[in-house]
Amino acid sequence: MRLFVALPLPENVRRQLGLLCAGLPGARWVPPENLHITLRFLGELSGGEMDDVDAALAGIHAPRFTLSLASVGAFGSSSRVRAVWAGAVREPAILHLRDKIESAVVRAGLEPEGQKYQPHVTLTRPKGTPVPKLQEFLASHSLFRSEPWNVTYFSLYSSFLAHANAIYREERRYELGHGWPAGDYDDEDYADEDMDEVLAEPADDKRRG
Ligand code: 2AM
Repeated sequence: MRLFVALPLPENVRRQLGLLCAGLPGARWVPPENLHITLRFLGELSGGEMDDVDAALAGIHAPRFTLSLASVGAFGSSSRVRAVWAGAVREPAILHLRDKIESAVVRAGLEPEGQKYQPHVTLTRPKGTPVPKLQEFLASHSLFRSEPWNVTYFSLYSSFLAHANAIYREERRYELGHGWPAGDYDDEDYADEDMDEVLAEPADDKRRG
C-alpha cells in the first residue's frame, strides 16, 4: 500500500484554502478533502512493513500544539514550477514531531529521508501554467494567513492514485499530548531555521498526488 503520514486540516482552514484555489489557468487544484500537511512520505509498503511503522508511530510521545498557515510559495524553478503550496508556520513543535516520526520510521526499517523538511499544503501541481501567471498568483497571496488551529493528532494515510485525483484514506490515528504539557520541548534546535525562499529546489521529480 502507498502510505504517508500527515496532519489533516480543519474544515474552516480547508474552506479558506478553497478560496485561494482560483485564478491560475491550467491548474488542477487539490480537492479540499485532500488538502493536508505531509509529515513523512513512506511510499509503497507491504502489510508487515506497515505494521512495523504503525507500532513505531504509536509509540511516539509528543505534545499538542497550535499551527497556522502563512503565505504561499512554490517548489521548482522559475521555468518549471512543480507545486504551489501554502506554507505552515515553522512552529518548533511541528519540526519536533516530524523529527520523532522520522526516527520512528527509520527504527521500523525505512531508509532515512534526508531532505530538509518544509511543512506545507500542496494546492496544485501546475502543468503548462504561464510563469507570469504563477508569479502574479504568488505575489497576490503573499499575505495569506489561515486561522490557527489545535493539532491534537496525526494520521497514517493510504493513497490510491485514481484517474483524476488521488484518493486518501485515514488508516490510523495517533493522539498527541499524552503526559505532555503544551509546548514542553526544547525549541532551541529549531530556532534558526527559516522558511525557504519562494522558489525552493524541487524535492523529487517523481512526486505525484
Ligand atoms: P506534498 O504534496 O505535501 O509535497 C501523498 O502522496 C503526499 O505525499 C503528497 O501530498 C506529497 O506531499 C507526498 N509525496 C508524494 N510523492 C512523494 C515522493 N516521491 N517523495 C516525497 N513526498 C512525496
